[in-house]
Parts: sequence; C-alpha cells; structure tokens
Amino acid sequence: MRKVVCNLLLATVSAFPLLAQSGDKKGEVQELRVPKERIPSSPPLSPIEALKTFKLPPGFRMELVASEPLVEMPVAMQFDADGRIWVVEMRGYMPNLDALGEKEPVGRVSVLEDKDGDGKADRRTTFLDGLVMPRAVSVVRGGVLIAEPPHLWFCRDTNGDLKCDERVEVTNDYGSSQSNPEHTANGLLTALDNWIYSANYGFRLRHAAGQWQKERTVRRGQWGITQDDYGRLFHDSNSDHLRGDLIPSHYASQRGSATKLNGLNVQIAKDQTVWPSRVNPGVNRGYQPKVLRDDGTLARFTAACAPCIYRGENFPKEFYGDAFVCEPAGNLVKRDLLVEQDGVISGRNAYTNAEFLTSTDERFRPVNLYTGPEGALYVIDLYHGILQHRTYVTSYLRRQMEDRGLDQPQNQGRIYRVVYEKGSLPKPPRLSKATPAELVVALSHVNGAVRDTAQRLLVERGDASAVPALHTMALSHGNHLARLHALWTLEGLNKLDIVTVAKVLDDRHPKLRAAATRVSEPFLRAMTAGNSELRKKVLSLAQDSAADVQVQLALTLGEIGSDEASKARLNSLTQSNIKLAKDAAEFSLLAGDGQSGAVTNGPALSPAEMKRFEAGKANYEMVCLPCHQPNGLGQEGLAPPLAGSEWVARTDKRLVRIVLHGLRGPITVKKQAFELDMPALGILEDEQIATILTYIRNEWGNAFAPVSTETVKKIREETAKREDAWTQEELLRIQ
Ligand code: HEC
Repeated sequence: MRKVVCNLLLATVSAFPLLAQSGDKKGEVQELRVPKERIPSSPPLSPIEALKTFKLPPGFRMELVASEPLVEMPVAMQFDADGRIWVVEMRGYMPNLDALGEKEPVGRVSVLEDKDGDGKADRRTTFLDGLVMPRAVSVVRGGVLIAEPPHLWFCRDTNGDLKCDERVEVTNDYGSSQSNPEHTANGLLTALDNWIYSANYGFRLRHAAGQWQKERTVRRGQWGITQDDYGRLFHDSNSDHLRGDLIPSHYASQRGSATKLNGLNVQIAKDQTVWPSRVNPGVNRGYQPKVLRDDGTLARFTAACAPCIYRGENFPKEFYGDAFVCEPAGNLVKRDLLVEQDGVISGRNAYTNAEFLTSTDERFRPVNLYTGPEGALYVIDLYHGILQHRTYVTSYLRRQMEDRGLDQPQNQGRIYRVVYEKGSLPKPPRLSKATPAELVVALSHVNGAVRDTAQRLLVERGDASAVPALHTMALSHGNHLARLHALWTLEGLNKLDIVTVAKVLDDRHPKLRAAATRVSEPFLRAMTAGNSELRKKVLSLAQDSAADVQVQLALTLGEIGSDEASKARLNSLTQSNIKLAKDAAEFSLLAGDGQSGAVTNGPALSPAEMKRFEAGKANYEMVCLPCHQPNGLGQEGLAPPLAGSEWVARTDKRLVRIVLHGLRGPITVKKQAFELDMPALGILEDEQIATILTYIRNEWGNAFAPVSTETVKKIREETAKREDAWTQEELLRIQ
C-alpha cells in the first residue's frame, strides 16, 4: 500500500527526492571512485584472524569474549547483577541482499556465562527464541525487558533454568515492525533518575505503584543511548555522531511547549571526520564526491551509532567519562574527549588524524559499546558483510556487496572487550545476592556500571532497611557520586524527605545542589506547611553562581507555579551570563504564561489517537522524512524544521493546505527565513494526511491537538479548484 503511494508520488512530482525502494536517487550516476585494484577481497575471517586486523593505541589489546556459534548477529547486550551477558541476537537482519526471510522468527535473547572466570564466555543458554527482529534487552526487576517491535515484553525465568517461562506485554507501540529497522525504537537504558530511556522512541518507562508507567518524552537519537555520571543522556544519528541532552528532557515534553528548550538534542561533537584503516568503497553513497577521500577511505561518519560514556576503572584515569562511538561502515570506534563549560559539553577526537580502534576487516561492524563491570570496554561486532538495510541500498552498494560476496555467510558475530594491559581487571561483584547494606556500599564503587546496577537493585527490591544508610550516604559520603546515587536511590524508593532534600541543597558539590533542586519539586508542589522553608531555600539558590544550579533552578521554578517570588527569580535568571540558564529561565517564563492564543495545546493522546500517531509516523517516514528528517529538524537548503515550528503548532487549516497543494516562496519558521519549494502531496489519502499531521503535532517535543480525517476531507473539498502552491502571505490570512 505504502509502496504504491511512493511510486505514485515519484511519477507525479518531478525532482522529488523521495528515495526509491533501492535507495537510488533519480538521475544520479553511480560510479566507483576507488580503483578496483586498490580494493582488497573481504573473506570472512575466523576470530583469531580477525584479532590481527585491529589497531589500538599502545598498551591496549582486544580480547575475544564470544563468537559464533556461541553468539550470532549480536546487536545489543546488558550485564546482569552477576556479570552475565544478556545478548540480543537479531539473526533475521538482512539474510541476503533482498532481505528475503527477514521477518522469520529466528531472533533470540541468550545468556552468556564465563564459568572459569577467564573473561571469555563459555556457555550460552537460549533464554527466549522465536523472536522477529528483536533489538534491545534490559535486565530489570528480576526479569528482562525485550524489544521486538512493536512489542515490548517483560520476560521472566521463574524456575532458575535461565529460560523464559513468563512473558507479558508492557506496551505494543515500541517501534514499528513495518518501518525500516534502521529507524525504530531501541536502547532501554535505566538512567540515574530511575526512568528507562530509549533511542528513537517518544516515551520513557518506569515501574511504579505496581505497574509499568509510560510517559511522553522527546524522541532522541537513532541507534544506541548512554548516560554519564550525572544521568545526562547521549545519542546520535548516522552522520551526526554525538548529541546529548544537557538538561532533563521531561521539562520540554511535559509542558508541550512549541518553544524549543535549549539544551536538548545538542550537538556535542562538531567534527564528523573519521580515519579508517582500510578503503571503504562499500558504503551506500560511496559513488558521491567527498563521501570517500581520494585514498578510498570513508571521510565522514555515515553510520554513527551506539555512543558509550566510558565509566570503568581498567583504562587510564584520563579515559574516564570519554565518549566512544561506533562507525560500522568505516570499521572503527571513535573516542571523543569531552569538556564541560557552564553546563555545555563539547567533544573532540582524542587523536590526530587517527582513531581509537580500527580494523582492516570490512566485516567488522561495531554496533554497540558498554562499560563492563570489571572496567573493560565491550564491543559488539555484528560481523556481517551487509550493514545497510534493503530500504536504502543503492545499486552501487549492491554491486559492491556482490563483488566481494559480502552477503554470505549469515549468523556470525562476536563480542570483544578492549583491555588496557597495565590496568586492573577486578572480579565483578556479584550483586544479585548482596545484602541491602552491601548494595549501598556498591553505590560508591569506582565503576559507574556497578554503581548503576546497585542503584537499580536497591530501587527494585524496595527494601526499606537500606533507607537509613542511604540517608547517611546522601548527606555525608566523601565521594560526590556516591552521594548522588544515594539521593536518586531514595527518590526511586519514594523515601526522600524534606529534611534530607533541604540539607542536600547545601551540598558542596554543584551537581548535588542541582539534583536536590530537581527532586525538591514534588515537595514544593505539595504546598504543605512544612515546605515553606524548603521553598525559601530553593528560591535563595538564585544567588548560587554554579551553572548546574542556575540551569536546574530555572527549570524547577517553571514547574512549581508562577507566583511573584518565583517570577522575580526567573526574571533575574534571564540576565544570567550562563546561556543555558538564561534560555531555561526564558522557557519557564513563557511556559508559565501559557501559549499565545492561536495555539491549541492538546492533552496527552488517547490510545486510539496513539494508534493514529503510530500510523502517521510510518507514513511520515515514507513521505516527509527525506526532506524534514527523522528528527523533524529539517535540513539546510532542503526543508525547514517541523519540531517547534509555529506552522505545526497553529491552526490545522494551514497545515492541511500545505500538504495538499505545497508551499513556495519566502517563509519564516522559528525566526529563520527559508525560500524553497515544497511539492504538493494531495495524492495522499485524507486519512494518511490526518495521521501524518497528528504525528508531527505530537513528536519531537510538539504536543498539539490531533488532526481528524474529516478536517482534511472538508478542506480538500473547499480547495478543490486550487492548483498552485500556497504562499506564506495567503496562509497567514487563514485563521
Ligand atoms: C521534497 C521535500 C519535502 C517533502 C517531501 C515535504 N516537505 Fe514540507 N516543506 C518542504 C520545504 C522546502 C518547505 C518550505 C517551503 C518554502 O520555503 O516556502 C516545507 C514546509 C513545510 C511546512 C511549513 C514550514 C514548517 O517547517 O513548519 C510544513 C508544516 C511541512 N512542510 C510539512 C510537511 C509534511 C507533513 C510533509 C509530508 C506529508 C512534508 N512537509 C513533505 C519540503 C518538503
């Protein structure tokens, strides 16, 4: 059905850059730019041979943790409390060049164990098989969340044999089984704030009051998600290798403001250059100028994915907190050094014209990275010749894959760990049987992955006996990260109290004062007699010069009401010389005042509307995405943004017209001027247009009333005689 729409569009709209099935662009010549004799063959290598193809900085080595047949087509994993690996095997992915058989239920989730403690997995247990293209796993609540779009399952082993014998559906909108697997939900990261976040999914999840809660959040990233010590989320999309949320995202998504909140989805690393150690003719647009260098190596990121903030103790100290990012099309892993200034993080390549990890093996496909509980950096290698999904494959790439037989074999795959030879590799703590007291101690562990697990276990167990020790740790532990974890563990247990929060507001570390400000919100909202002191204390933080505190205060004040005292503080924060704080204060003032009258700020979507939203997403991906982009931010010279656009927010009468007949000439979107042409898309059915508009009005932080099929039908009738595209001037006359 959608294919038909696509072809019709191609036939009717000239110069329309919609990608055809094969990924080819109309009128493009696809010639090889690397002399054939410079392209080595790419036979599948055994793990032992593959180990010889890696290049790492001095002192580091690659160790094999698992390979086929122990693991096949791995795409994501998680360590459980005892250091066992839970791995998702997407065995259906691109079994051949035409993706025939892709929907066969051959995917599975397995548990890998290292019985003799040598760092190598020696036993695999299939936990759950028969899955269609599973793509994420998260160990939680004595079970695991498994993503098999559109299903998100919570699965449990109830008798200790490591096999799933109970599964319930948490939600049925976790990505789509219809959309391109390169663009659907994944991740499932339990973050510092006790919520589970995903890439490419508009909700966050949390188990509370006996059930799974789902809450709207901004959609972020494409494949992979990670957090730093302070719970800030990092993500990326294929040619933009490191982006991040400098502030908690729920402030934007919950207020449904059309105003974009600065600090979300920020480009952290600007330089997208990569330095592979082999020629890379096998990339989708390798025929285009500048995609490859003259020497045939990939010049810039094209398949960036799976950022990982390294938080282990094995690497030298200066590596702690650095970002590692995969580029499977260039067979490499980049390391970015991160610097924080006034709450803004920026990243740059740690090496000059070189990378942390490269391979000369074309089949090395790093697709996920993790800090291990012993401090090593784990690298998931899909080890598959075909990387690009069929939806976008160009004729050029297809020829490349055929030339070197990259389509076979199927079902290989490796997990490696990068180890620093002089660094320690302590035995990972076994936390599943740890007492509450031991878990509290583990919150101060040097390894961030261990700290995260300890917090998760404490929160999930809900054992009140840990609470006194947590209070003590939050107030007095020497390590500020231990204090921070203790604070958030109390939040997760619902055991925070006003006195503790007020004391942490005085902490000597600004990250703690900021976190205390954030967790003070429920108390401030409750407005009991006891919280007036707390309120005074929070308001007095306007004098705090630390960037973290100013930014958080500006966000919190926007949450707790618009009384004169908060407004005065917000106004003073708009004068801050810290840009992030100034922007947050302006956002809070605006959101507090409500939107301008023209904006219909809709409530959260009902389940029926959610269905239309999902349908709209799929249609958007087929029709609008090539121009307006997956993140709705548009692209310079191609299309303006839809995220935060006033045209999307205001009356649907204009929106429907834009889609029916197109738009031309000068237009201002988010204070930026464009002068381009959007083609008429009236060929779409009323229902399709309505779902697409419902989608764009409720994605990327937008939150506005859905658009009904009746509205589209009515406007189509009213404008039946119209042939020309609309201009801004005409549209503005329509209220
Ligand atoms: C061929 C590329 C292309 C496609 C496909 C496309 N648009 Fe556009 N769109 C544009 C351009 C270019 C403009 C700005 C036109 C101008 O400068 O006058 C625009 C403007 C808009 C605007 C108003 C400005 C803004 O950014 O808010 C909306 C709304 C919009 N498009 C929605 C859509 C929707 C919905 C779809 C899919 C049904 C779609 N577009 C498909 C190129 C495209």
